[in-house]
Amino acid sequence: MQAKIQKIVVLGTGGTIAGESNSENEGFAYQAAQRSIQDLLQAVAGPSQSLPSHLEGFQIQTEQVCQIDSKDMNFSIWQTLALRCEHWLSQPDVHSVVITHGTDTLEETAYFLSQVVQRNKPIILTCAMRPANFKDADGPQNMRDALNAAAQMSGRGVWLVAASEIHNSLHVQKVHPTRINAFDSGERGPAALVHDDHIHWQTDSFERAVEMSRLDGFNIQELPVPEEWPWVEIIMNHVQSTGRNIQVLVDAGVKGLVVAGTGNASVSQPLKDALMSAQSRGVKVCLASRCHQGPVVQTANHAFPTSGELNPAKARVALILDMLSKTQSHLN
Ligand code: SIN
Repeated sequence: MQAKIQKIVVLGTGGTIAGESNSENEGFAYQAAQRSIQDLLQAVAGPSQSLPSHLEGFQIQTEQVCQIDSKDMNFSIWQTLALRCEHWLSQPDVHSVVITHGTDTLEETAYFLSQVVQRNKPIILTCAMRPANFKDADGPQNMRDALNAAAQMSGRGVWLVAASEIHNSLHVQKVHPTRINAFDSGERGPAALVHDDHIHWQTDSFERAVEMSRLDGFNIQELPVPEEWPWVEIIMNHVQSTGRNIQVLVDAGVKGLVVAGTGNASVSQPLKDALMSAQSRGVKVCLASRCHQGPVVQTANHAFPTSGELNPAKARVALILDMLSKTQSHLN
């Protein structure tokens, strides 16, 4: 009997990987989200490159979920994207999903998907720092590495493949506005390296990361419409932090606050007082750190829960999902 063809589904969302500039020498001024997902795939298998051998036996299917610069990513697209991942990954012949995404909010989308998509199959995001028509465009190689990873990986987990590295969604962060290797996983380092179509895992990072990526029991199908997701803002502690902005946000109806605190998630006394007052009015507060490496260590000095390994942007996603999951458990 012939083995059944397995599929890799590639979902396009836009970003610089699909961007175009006025000339092949212009790598910084460009319009993101111009080329379709089919066009991006064709660039991988162009005249000079054959598809990686690991893709033999896989059929590649594409879907354009949206076409945006990821600075404009929103809850509505997130919900659609998560539902499309659920849809495809629930099909027995689909092995994995690849998503092309802008770099600017990629870590938030990756973390969101890691928490809400319940299927036991990998999701691999990829991106680029130079537009598709740039002479040294990085997108085609990133896409090739992502497809390769999608063919070789199995099990639950959401990953970023870029600049010959694989990062776990929990740790990865964009750390540079322009350089080609713009992503970093801080003290964790990349989970794997990709050389010549081969994946080299670093120590036990694969098992550890898969184990960590869980928000069990969350039902993406039962999420309320995005307009009803809780309003959560990120604010920062800094010199002369007065906390006056907190009062304005609470009066306007904010439901949650994530603080990008100084150092080990510290906040000024006036900011702490304002946060205490917000909490007494029902606002959820979470403390993260504006340092870009290392977990926050919760101590007796923290008056609010801390975000652990999550940076402020991901801690905000976690707080939103925590509030939504409590709504879900009330409904069930
Ligand atoms: C975007 O995030 O969509 C634009 C920037 C990029 O992809 O590098």
